[in-house]
Amino acid sequence: MQMTVTVKPTGRMIGAEVRCGDVRSLSDDASRAVYPALLDHLVILIRGQSLTDPELIAFGRRFGELDFAPLARTGKEKARPHPEIIVVSNVLENGVPIGVLRDAEVVWHSDNSYRETPLSYSGLYALEIPPSGGETGYVNMYHALETLPRELRARIEGRTLKHDLTYNSAGDLRAGFQPVTDVRAAPGPSHPIVRTHPETGYDALYLGRRPNAYINGLPVDESEQLLNALWAHATRPEFQWHHTWRAGDILIWDNRCAMHHRNPFDGGHRRIMHRIQCAGDRPVHQPSGKAGPHPRAATLVEAAR
Ligand code: OGA
Ligand code: MN
Repeated sequence: MQMTVTVKPTGRMIGAEVRCGDVRSLSDDASRAVYPALLDHLVILIRGQSLTDPELIAFGRRFGELDFAPLARTGKEKARPHPEIIVVSNVLENGVPIGVLRDAEVVWHSDNSYRETPLSYSGLYALEIPPSGGETGYVNMYHALETLPRELRARIEGRTLKHDLTYNSAGDLRAGFQPVTDVRAAPGPSHPIVRTHPETGYDALYLGRRPNAYINGLPVDESEQLLNALWAHATRPEFQWHHTWRAGDILIWDNRCAMHHRNPFDGGHRRIMHRIQCAGDRPVHQPSGKAGPHPRAATLVEAAR
C-alpha cells in the first residue's frame, strides 16, 4: 500500500510532525517527500515507531552517510554494540552507564561543532521515557540570524568562532582532556559565525555551544560580551519549540541551522534514546550565496510583524 506523507508544522518557529507510517516500509518515493520537510522545518518528528538497531541504522542512511561521532564517548560508558549508534541514557548496568549525557540539563548546542566537519543531521529514537522532564528543545538559527539586531550583525561580519571540544553538552570532561583555563587556548576548530547551508544556500547563525567559545581576534572580555548578546538573542523563549517525548518517537534535526537543548529529569526514572548521525561538511560562509532569509524564516519574520 502506498502511504501518503503528511507534514504538520508545530506552529512554532521550528519543527513539523511528519506522518509517513512505519518507517521500515517507507518507499523511496515517500522518503523523497520526507527529506524536503526536514530542510523546510529543520526538525521533524515521526511518532509510533518500533525499531531494532539495524532498522534504525537503515532509516538513518536515508539522510546521508552515517558517522560514528567518536568524540561523543566520555570513556566511562559501556562499549557500543553498533558503532553507528550512540546510546543517550542515564541508566546504569552493574554500575556502568549504558550511555552518555546522564540526567543533566544539556545546554543549547549544535552536534559536533567542535569538529572540523560537524554532523549534518542527528536523529534520536526514544525507547524509554521518564514521566516528566527530559524534553528536547530546538531553535531556528536562520531565524536567529534574520532577526539579529543590525548592530550585532555588524559586529560578527566576517568573524570566526572557536568551538571548544573539552566538555560535552552535559558538562562532562571528555576522556584525555584537561579543564580549560583560557578560552583562547582551548582545543577545537574555528568556523564562520555566519554559515551558508550547503543544501538550502541560506545563511544561518552558527554558535555551536556557549561554554569556552571564543570569537577569534577579540579581547576575551569583548568576545564574552558579544557571545552573551548573541546567545540571549538566539535562545529567546519565543523562538523555542520543546518536544515532550513518547516511546516510539523519532526526532531528526539539521545541525547546520538548528540548535537543541534538553531539560534535566529525575534520575530515579529511566530514559533511553538511541542516536544516529550523518556526516557533514566543513562549515563555510559563501558571500556569493543566496541573499535574504530561508523562505520559512522569511514567512516567520513577516508573520511576527
Ligand atoms: C544529543 C542530545 C538531547 C536529548 O543526543 O545530541 O543533545 O534530549 N540529546 O537527549
Ligand atoms: Mn546534541
